[in-house]
Parts: sequence; C-alpha cells; structure tokens
Amino acid sequence: MTIQTLAIVGGQWGDEGKGKIVDCLSARTDAVVRFQGGHNAGHTLVSDNRKVVVHLIPAGILHQHVRAFIGNGVVLSLDALQKEMSSVAEHARDLSERLRISEDCTLLLPSHAALDQARESSKGKRAIGTTSRGIGPAYEDKIARRGIKVHDLLNANILSEKVTVLLDYHNFLLSERYGAPQVDAGDVLDFLSGAAEWVTPMITDVSSDVSKLIDEGKRVLFEGAQGVLLDIDHGTYPYVTSSNTGTGAIATGGGIPVSRVNHVMAIIKAYTTRVGAGPFPTELNDETGQRIAERGAEFGATTGRPRRCGWFDAVTVRRAHQLNDFDGVCITKLDVLDGFDTIKICTDYRVRDTVSNNMSCNAKNLGECEPIYEEIPGWNESTLGTTRYADLPRNAKKYLDSIAELCGVPIDIISTGPERKHTIFNEALANWI
Ligand code: IMP
Repeated sequence: MTIQTLAIVGGQWGDEGKGKIVDCLSARTDAVVRFQGGHNAGHTLVSDNRKVVVHLIPAGILHQHVRAFIGNGVVLSLDALQKEMSSVAEHARDLSERLRISEDCTLLLPSHAALDQARESSKGKRAIGTTSRGIGPAYEDKIARRGIKVHDLLNANILSEKVTVLLDYHNFLLSERYGAPQVDAGDVLDFLSGAAEWVTPMITDVSSDVSKLIDEGKRVLFEGAQGVLLDIDHGTYPYVTSSNTGTGAIATGGGIPVSRVNHVMAIIKAYTTRVGAGPFPTELNDETGQRIAERGAEFGATTGRPRRCGWFDAVTVRRAHQLNDFDGVCITKLDVLDGFDTIKICTDYRVRDTVSNNMSCNAKNLGECEPIYEEIPGWNESTLGTTRYADLPRNAKKYLDSIAELCGVPIDIISTGPERKHTIFNEALANWI
C-alpha cells in the first residue's frame, strides 16, 4: 500500500530520536503536524554539522517546502514559540508563512510554569521530575474549562477578562498554598496583547487545513512528542506527562481521525532510557548503564538532565504496540551498543511468583516487576553511519530480529548515527524517501 499519511510516536519513555526521523522523512513530506504536549519536548536535529533544537515547532520545518501545523492538543507557550522562531529563523526560510497554529490551542502561561515548579518543590521525594515548563498545570486548566485559547487573543476584552480571572486563581495558589512569588497579571496581559499581533496571521483551523491537504493527495506526517509510556492514561502514572501521547491524540489533538492515518511507526531506541522519576524495570545503575549513557550522550534536549539508561524492554514496547497498533518500528541508536560482549533484552517480567509478558504500565504494577532477560552475543564492528542492512554485523542483525520478533512489529527504519544520512530504510517506506 502506498503510504500518504504517516504517524510517528515514541514507543518508550520519550527521547527515542523522533526528531531526526521526522526531519529525514520531511524531505518528501508536504506537512508535519504536532498534536500533543508542549515545549517539554526537545528535538535535536543535525544536518551538515548544524545542530538545531526545536521544542514546539514541528521537526520538519528545516525543509523549506514543509508546512508545519501546531494542533489544538498542544499547550502553547507563546514566549517559548517566539524565542524558538528567532532561533530557527536562519535555518528555516519563510517560517511565519509556513507555520500555522490551531485557534483552539490552550495557552501555557508563565504562571503555569511557576505552579509546576512550586508543586514539584513541595512534593520532595515524591516529585515527578517534570520539565518545569508548566505542562501539567496548563492541561489542568484546559480540562477545567478555564484555559485561555489562542482564539481569545483575537478579542482584547475577552483576553483581559480571562487573564485577570485565571491569574487571580494561579496567584492565590502560588502564595497561599505554596508560599511562592506571584506572577504579575499585567505583565502576562501585556505580553499576550503584543503577541496577538504576530500570532494572528498564523492562526487557522488545523483540522480543515490538514484534511484538505490529505484530500489533495499531499503527504502528511503526524509528529508525536514524548512516548507511550509517559501517556497520562496508559503510562507509568503518576510519573507521566499530562497528555495522551499515542495515536488516539491525532484525532483529539489534531482533528484528524486516526482512520485517515495509513501507517503508524513507533520510534524505539535499541536500549531504554527515561528522564524524571518513576519505575524503570531494566534500569542499570552500574558501569554498563554509565557506558550506554556516555556512548549515547544521554542528556535531555530540553532540560539537559542526565537520562537513566537500561537494557531494551520488549514487554513495555509490546504493550505500547497493543495500545497503538504499530505498523512498523524504527530502531535508533544501534551504534551505541557497538562493542558490548553480550547484550540483554527483557522478554518477560517476574511479579512475585508469576511470570508475565503483558501488564498495564501504571507505577504500581511496573514498580513490582523484575525483568527476565535473554542474553545474546554482541558485535565488535562499528555500525556508526551504516546505510545498508546487508552491511550490518551478523550479531547486530540478530539483535534487531530479536527485538522485532519479541515486540511483534516489523522494522521500517534503523538509525545508525545522528545525521540524516546515517539511516537504513526498508521496503515499507520506500515510496516516501
Ligand atoms: P512534564 O511533561 O514536564 O509534566 O514532565 C512529566 C514527565 O515526563 C517527567 O518525567 C519528564 O521528564 C517527562 N517528559 C516530558 N517531556 C519529555 C520528553 O520530551 N522526553 C522525555 N521525557 C519527557
């Protein structure tokens, strides 16, 4: 089947390398759509030795023909967007003509970030380890129906009234509940009123625009942020982000029914990482974990925090597949595992006296799991930059085959290094590249 619409989601705890793959595939993509999360995401893109980090703007933007959409499911910090637009401007021509924002996005304000930080500090050891960007509080306001929407920017009176009421509530919480400094409502209103001028020409009905592009036969890529194990409903709750991170969010946060998506690809690392707190059955608190962290440069693109590292966990990826029905996976950072004598894959969990290969990933369940490993031989050759499957070492191929078999999903792409050219594509996406 010819693929015209493609969804890319994180199959683990985020940071799987989605940005590079979206960037690669965007060479022949007409539009890229973000549908959830906010500037907690961070994509480091490398091309011709240029390093560009994007948080809110869809990763395809570096390709000058790509139209980029921020869907209604995104919580949008206009301050972060303004800074990001200036920082990528030199790499992305005609940015403001190509970027469009849903009128229904919920705005993320400085007071959301202040509340996020105040809450995290008050939790002590029970902190989630959020990115401190205000993501949780912004989604709370959306669900509580008191959020400020992008379309509110179009009416100065409504904007002023809503900002006053919301900041009054936030400031009450900040000072009375957390003993934290308040955020000046006047400053917030001034910033938003000023922002209305440059944002207004970019406001659109994303659902209609993207549906029309699909009707016209254009290629559309849906770019997920974070990963399925951080999903508010299906992840390691409460150690999760505050949005749905799977394919269902394309419908709710992009306005495009999932039935219009031809192919769902999960991006998974050849091992596992997570940032922030929460259960992580295959975590390695030893030299091996440190070696993976160093070789993989495992530091968050948004916060710079070191990522926790561990062996590949097939149980959680299988669960992610069950929830999202992946058509294929892209395995990234294979080169990081070069030079290990043996490599372990978690095939099942032991929970007290029973063995299980499928369980819901909430923190209680996952916290009780002990990984059961299969150990397979490693390879000494370097895989860095390999572009043909046939050129991979025999044991690397066996390792990849084991992952595909254990997760029950075929491999679409293998990423063997940070650059666009360090990529092996298989048949499924042959028409896209
Ligand atoms: P929040 O999304 O900032 O509320 O953070 C909640 C949890 O999700 C924390 O453990 C974060 O480290 C994690 N998280 C949020 N965004 C990302 C991401 O883009 N990659 C990896 N982890 C993330």
